[in-house]
Amino acid sequence: MNFKKISIKAFGRYVPPRVLTNDELGEMVDTDDEWIYSHTGIRKRHISTGENTSDLCTKAARQALQHAGVAPEDVDIIIVTTSTPDYALPSTACLVQSGLGARKAFAFDISAACAGFIYALSVAEKMLRSPHYRNALVISGDVLSKIVDWSDRKTCVIFGDGSGAVLLSAAESYTDESFLISEDIHSNGDKAMSLFCGYKGVSNPFCAYEPGEGDKFINMDGRAIFDFVTRQIPISVNAALEKAKLGLNDIKLVVPHQANARIVEVVAKRMSCGMDKFALNIERYGNTSAASMPIAICELLETGRISLGSGDKYVLTGFGSGLTWGSLVIAM
Ligand code: ACO
Repeated sequence: MNFKKISIKAFGRYVPPRVLTNDELGEMVDTDDEWIYSHTGIRKRHISTGENTSDLCTKAARQALQHAGVAPEDVDIIIVTTSTPDYALPSTACLVQSGLGARKAFAFDISAACAGFIYALSVAEKMLRSPHYRNALVISGDVLSKIVDWSDRKTCVIFGDGSGAVLLSAAESYTDESFLISEDIHSNGDKAMSLFCGYKGVSNPFCAYEPGEGDKFINMDGRAIFDFVTRQIPISVNAALEKAKLGLNDIKLVVPHQANARIVEVVAKRMSCGMDKFALNIERYGNTSAASMPIAICELLETGRISLGSGDKYVLTGFGSGLTWGSLVIAM
């Protein structure tokens, strides 16, 4: 079946200006730069001093639109992926729509934690196949600092705040080309409680459930996630490559979710390839959840390691709470 040619037009990113170093964290909890860097590859991260998720996402999206030369009024679809929405309702995407002045668009959130960018790219691409839509913004953003327990050294050293956006466009003419060559996407709800935030109990005048202090924060079984993703990500990347009928040699770079540099090292080893095949910028940002991939791509564009319109092929691979994970083979 022929459908409209769907391509990546531009990326954008935004991180709040306040930088938090490992040394500063060492003054807050019992940790130090040596432990954090050797266990995670992180040196510093950006932390919001007041901006919320919709503010970060609006700035990243505005930059993507500016880079593409597309007016906000011409956006048809806005998808935000976040684990830290400004409000339980309305969606963060609707706040971003308002911030951009994208009056024509319809807007909604996707909840897939750190795999959100993978999920949303897949969803947006399918929607753009419809004759009704031309431009879709996919924005991933989080202010994880508002749900991190700043007295828990096992989690507070890992996360950072930030957002990244991409504008996807469908051409008028019908072809069978898309930037998205193949995908391999999964969830495993049996492992949902290995990374969660919030409480499941119902709290209302008709029952007695009282949320505890810890329910407000990220609870993570770091070791379980480490073991799970270092097994599943190589399988997922290989599955996506197989569907694309491509090998790792055909791929310019793998852009992984920046959760922990040590995870990427184990994945590279299991895939029998060097670390030079993987893009890593976690040292400067920490784990910014689903925003980590578009932020990394923006940096790669700025340094010329990726060029839009080149047709070069890349693998994006992500994982997170849910558990959710997946890999995409894409053409720039
Ligand atoms: N500083 C100093 N010591 C520490 C720190 C710290 N910041 N954190 C933990 N430790 C100590 C622990 O207390 C423990 O000490 P003990 O042996 O005396 O009890 C020791 O270090 C080892 O702790 P582990 O938790 O086993 O450390 P590990 O090597 O597994 O590293 C980490 C922890 C970095 C969290 C790792 O497990 C990891 O990265 N896991 C994956 C996390 C992840 O990817 N999450 C997904 C996020 S994506 C999303 O959906 C948001």
